[in-house]
Amino acid sequence: MESGLELLREQALERIRGAAGLEDLEAVRVEVLGRKGVLNSISRDFGKFGPEDRARAGKLLNTAKQAVESALDARKAEFESAALAARLESEWVDLTLPAPGVRPGSPHPVTIIQAEIEDLFTSMGFTVLSGPEVETEYNNFDALNIPPDHPARDMQDTFWLEDGHLLRTHTSPVQVRGMKRLGPPLRMIAPGRVFRNEEVDPSHEHTFYQLEGMMVDREVSVANLIYYMKTLLAGIFRRDVTVRLRPGYFPFVEPGFELDVQCLLCGGGGCPVCKQSGWLELLPCGLVHPNVLRMGGIDPERWMGFAFGLGLTRLAMMRYQIDDIRLLQGGDLRFLGQF
Ligand code: PHE
Repeated sequence: MESGLELLREQALERIRGAAGLEDLEAVRVEVLGRKGVLNSISRDFGKFGPEDRARAGKLLNTAKQAVESALDARKAEFESAALAARLESEWVDLTLPAPGVRPGSPHPVTIIQAEIEDLFTSMGFTVLSGPEVETEYNNFDALNIPPDHPARDMQDTFWLEDGHLLRTHTSPVQVRGMKRLGPPLRMIAPGRVFRNEEVDPSHEHTFYQLEGMMVDREVSVANLIYYMKTLLAGIFRRDVTVRLRPGYFPFVEPGFELDVQCLLCGGGGCPVCKQSGWLELLPCGLVHPNVLRMGGIDPERWMGFAFGLGLTRLAMMRYQIDDIRLLQGGDLRFLGQF
């Protein structure tokens, strides 16, 4: 019996060593260790043995089973780790490789200018506010001293929504929100997208960007306004600029001005960019109309202020010498990738 067992065990170990894969191993397991396997069939003869021999035979059988089992386990582990190694080799991915066809984004030219102006004004104590693009008629017009029948409404071709709201035609409604939110004294700027129902051509868009500014304090003069505007322009163009004020009409400021900057290309001599005038119209501004302060909840007897509305889109075009406004909204990555 003993030598028979020994032989079976050796044969089994031999087959395990020679197995080609997990399937072979399973076949060996069933054949040798299974309920009807060769090792169990040996135990059928144990009945003929006396008690001592039977106990010894039982022990031998168990040792043989254990030897086969652990050989099976060890071989199985070998197959599994070889399979894992092969899989790691074939499915290897280099996570540091740049993805094909994807290039890093870059900030939009308007975003660049906006961020610079925000830095500049926050360093002078201004708060950056934003307001909704869908506005009430009241905030966009009435509270800015433009009542319903006022001709100034026609200056801004408005997209009206069916529910009576509108797409804001300028960032000035954020003045109204800012006065109510902050109260006097206040310094705020509000960059944002505005909409006008305009025919689109190289210099007109229905969607563009402005940056509103407002300062309210006890004593605010046109001299203060000019100082902040010059600081703003010098910061953006990175050099001193010469400005001039012309009278300009906006119902929400009194007096109102158009602030022109001396042409940065020709220095005032006259060129195609400034249409030979030597000046570029850039910044509508003025002292806040008392009605506007009042509607913003501020007492015009005690407080005064200035406000300006900078054309961010226009400024970006001047700074980067972009000659077609449609490029800015066009989404063409060949254009946008240059900034
Ligand atoms: N909101 C005006 C416009 O878009 C610009 C402006 C703002 C003028 C603030 C004066 C003061 O036309």
